[in-house]
Amino acid sequence: MNYIGSKYSLLDFLETTIEEVTGYKSGANYVFGDLFAGTGIVGQTYKAKGCTVIANDIQYYSYILNKHFIENIPELDTGLLEKLNTLSPVEGFIYNNYCEGSGSGRNYFTNENGMKCDAIRIELERLHTSGEIDDHIYFYYLASLVNSIDKYANTASVYGAFLKHIKKSAQKEFKLELLPVISGKAGRTYNEDINKLVRKIGGDVLYLDPPYNARQYCSNYHVLETIARYDEPELTGITGLRNSSEQKSKFCSKRTVDAAFEDLISNADFKYIFLSYNNEGLMSLDTIREIMSRYGEYTVFTKDYKRFKADKDQNRTIAADSTTEYLHCLIKA
Ligand SMILES: C[S@@+](CC[C@H](N)C(=O)[O-])C[C@H]1O[C@@H](n2cnc3c(N)ncnc32)[C@H](O)[C@@H]1O
Repeated sequence: MNYIGSKYSLLDFLETTIEEVTGYKSGANYVFGDLFAGTGIVGQTYKAKGCTVIANDIQYYSYILNKHFIENIPELDTGLLEKLNTLSPVEGFIYNNYCEGSGSGRNYFTNENGMKCDAIRIELERLHTSGEIDDHIYFYYLASLVNSIDKYANTASVYGAFLKHIKKSAQKEFKLELLPVISGKAGRTYNEDINKLVRKIGGDVLYLDPPYNARQYCSNYHVLETIARYDEPELTGITGLRNSSEQKSKFCSKRTVDAAFEDLISNADFKYIFLSYNNEGLMSLDTIREIMSRYGEYTVFTKDYKRFKADKDQNRTIAADSTTEYLHCLIKA
């Protein structure tokens, strides 16, 4: 998934540095926490290496993705796929609120794709509630729906706005595709504010990847949140935002981030803590160093990388400026 702050392109840097600091090699049996999990790519990587992963995110669509990636193990039945892909379209909540044909004034999906999404989402809920599918299958297909539908969204990248005209990738007929199932130990997944959760769990390595700036994930991915929950919320404004006051992150505000970070570090019952942050974030690098140094031995590793702006419809990739990614490390005293 194309996700703000995804660490997909930094995995090598993370893995090399974490191994250097901890000495833990692939195959070692330890507990790895990925508590700002997002797409779950970091936790997946550590599950595949043999760790027991604890994943968490405040967003429900991310929880669903991680329920599948972290808790499911092969072999999962794929028999439902064809049935779901051939359901008759339904004029449900997605069509009625995010497609133009319903008169909603919003253009997030074509009418056909919105109705297909509704049909699959409604059928999955029915199958789960009636006990015809268990939690593993439910989250397998629901995670696959969240991941698949995102590829057909008529947005520039996030759901803060929709495009006026339907772009090429959004015009294609929606097809549900199944996500891979990661081999390894089944871990645990939570959907909580990290500062609450951290008081209840523990482990060996904690990886932290908070938001860096004021862009709240609840606003940027509100449509995926509603597809994931399918709770028919009241929507407001041109873009159809749901009320997400419970999901506003303290890590997205200059006023609250330092205290939230210190609270997190002081309460984390993990021997090794790694924090991804770049040089343009709300917390200054000095503040991070000062806070982490209070709780043990602190070091920092850096990697420069080029930032790219993708202009997919024009088939161009434009190199923008470069930025420095930091991995701050703490061995807790
Ligand atoms: C930079 S992204 C993580 C990206 C992830 N590492 C990946 O590679 O996909 C930050 C994530 O933190 C989550 N988040 C923000 N504030 C949170 C909080 N207080 N508790 C739990 N999760 C939070 C956001 O929903 C978002 O998914």
